[in-house]
Amino acid sequence: MPTTARAAVLWGTDEPWKVQEIEVHDPKEGEVLVRWKAAGLCHSDEHLVTGDMVPSAEALAALGVESFFPIIGGHEGAGIVEAVGPGVRSVQLGDHVSASFVPSCGQCRYCTTGRGNLCDAGAGTLGGGMITDGTHRHFVDGQPVTLLAKLGTFAELTCVSEMSVIKVDDDLPLDCVSLVSCGVATGWGSATRRADVAPGDTVVVVGIGGIGMNAVQGARMAGASRVVAVDPLEFKRETAMEFGATHTYASMEEAIPEVMEMTRGQMADKVIMTPGVMYGELMEQAQLLTGKGGTMVVTAVAPIEQKDASINLFNLAMYNKEVKGTIFGSLTPRSDIPRLLDMYRGGSLKLDELITNRYPLEQINDGYEAMRAGTNIRGVIVFD
Ligand SMILES: NC(=O)c1ccc[n+]([C@@H]2O[C@H](COP(=O)([O-])OP(=O)(O)OC[C@H]3O[C@@H](n4cnc5c(N)ncnc54)[C@H](O)[C@@H]3O)[C@@H](O)[C@H]2O)c1
Ligand SMILES: [Zn+2]
Ligand SMILES: [Zn+2]
Repeated sequence: MPTTARAAVLWGTDEPWKVQEIEVHDPKEGEVLVRWKAAGLCHSDEHLVTGDMVPSAEALAALGVESFFPIIGGHEGAGIVEAVGPGVRSVQLGDHVSASFVPSCGQCRYCTTGRGNLCDAGAGTLGGGMITDGTHRHFVDGQPVTLLAKLGTFAELTCVSEMSVIKVDDDLPLDCVSLVSCGVATGWGSATRRADVAPGDTVVVVGIGGIGMNAVQGARMAGASRVVAVDPLEFKRETAMEFGATHTYASMEEAIPEVMEMTRGQMADKVIMTPGVMYGELMEQAQLLTGKGGTMVVTAVAPIEQKDASINLFNLAMYNKEVKGTIFGSLTPRSDIPRLLDMYRGGSLKLDELITNRYPLEQINDGYEAMRAGTNIRGVIVFD
């Protein structure tokens, strides 16, 4: 029997999130109903509002998708399994689960070679119906509504593929679990896995939001000697010191001579780019911050149609530098989400300290206003 739930729906770019009732249909083969308990306000949802992450009409046509909007936002989330469809094996009724914005089929070339962040089942993430069969389970005002990342955690209840959820221990606070499902994993993995920070490294993290703060704590945990946090906002810089930063600067421009001084001209081993929006021109200073043989990791999302980046290819080759992209910090959701939660349980990973404010769903637009103003490390929607 279809049921109803409240959800934050976006009807077009430059519009506010509209909290309204949706209809949710029963799970089919391989699907589960999840009652979301907490949803983190990640910058990636904001890219839908600005249009930075809205595919072009041609790209949507290639995916066989007629319209991107309306869409239910939210891809950071944690909740409780309320119903399971036929054939579901990895979770059961009542299980506590983390969302995973990249699904895990467990069978493709990537899942079977330790690269779960690249699972082939993630191919249609930005549009269309269910991962399982492409049809819709969610309707608003009588029309089908898409779920961001096939999750839609800005809803009380959604129907998702079992590939998109990961069982977690029942005693963990679900607001903290929700942060691990995207921001913590992505930032921490950007430092520890993709940048491969080694003991003694000098690491620069540019942009200290929900993602960058976790790149800072990842770099610290990996044994970096210097963790340099760059953000124009003083509040972010101060909080970064509590997460393991050793130095902070308001801009890359300001950081360049300081990093030169502290490394005796060697510059950073690793530079991790986590600003709110990844503009191509930011790469010029990122490259100046990177030393010989160094690595630049691009984690932040760029406007989808942007093709240019300011990279001096002569210097890139002659100084043996590299530029790497990363999705989900290049981690594997099924093994790394529980691993991060174990580190939280053991006291080495900070999660509670990431949450600046909690909001009921009705106040989602206030939460995003706070992100734009930079007054939250992370805001979290908590469902009653
Ligand atoms: N690759 C992935 O898998 C992945 C996953 C999640 C999020 N993201 C992306 O990571 C980025 C960061 O997300 P977030 O949720 O942490 O955002 P956020 O808005 O919480 O934080 C961004 C921070 O960057 C700072 N900033 C902006 N421009 C800057 C600049 N030029 N120099 C230094 N600091 C600057 C802001 O002051 C802010 O503190 C977004 O683009 C998001 O979409 C990527
Ligand atoms: Zn995210
Ligand atoms: Zn797979």
